[in-house]
Amino acid sequence: MTRCRLGILISGRGSNMRAIAGAVESGTLAGAEIAVVVSNRPEAAGLSYAAEKDLPTVIVERGDYDSKRDFDTAILDVLLGHQVDLALLAGYDRIIGQPLLDAYANRILNIHPSLLPKYGGRGMVGLAVHRAAIAAEDTESGCSVHLVTGDVDGGPILGQARVPVLPTDTPEQLAERVLAEEHRLYPQVIGEWVYRKFIREKEKADAHR
Ligand code: GRF
Repeated sequence: MTRCRLGILISGRGSNMRAIAGAVESGTLAGAEIAVVVSNRPEAAGLSYAAEKDLPTVIVERGDYDSKRDFDTAILDVLLGHQVDLALLAGYDRIIGQPLLDAYANRILNIHPSLLPKYGGRGMVGLAVHRAAIAAEDTESGCSVHLVTGDVDGGPILGQARVPVLPTDTPEQLAERVLAEEHRLYPQVIGEWVYRKFIREKEKADAHR
């Protein structure tokens, strides 16, 4: 069976990448394989894990390119070169530019640590997201997996998971509770996408041959 080839983009810790790799390894994310892990930061901790697991890794640094467009095109070349079917942002800290959006329209997913549309958009990264939920005295927060479009954190939502916000929560405590749900939600939504958009489409195409 042809597997859906995943390209994972990271910039840091890479815990979501680990969760995805774990799901592929255990068979809960059947029908997919990791084709490449791309990092825009050579120091990203997730790269050592990827290397330990013998996953192909590629570093593409913004500073090596004159323009953002050239940088995005370089990432696109890596994805195409590894025959990636689905690109996954997993703590990737740059905005996805037009070359990637065009070539991978409806084939880039992101996970965000809030119940979008709340607390999304430029600048809403890391602990800022959880600080905002606490400041608003929200009683619940969570995470969202969405399709990546030109509207930052604004693409169609494919899945969400909820957690309570406790009155005593620090942003760090809330981040930890949300992250545990991210690790469950992301592989699940990827699995659904792979089934709906990859396996079923391939079966349909085969049936028409
Ligand atoms: C996660 O909270 C994710 O929602 C956000 O960035 C963080 C990445 O964490 N987009 P990790 O690198 O996957 O551990």
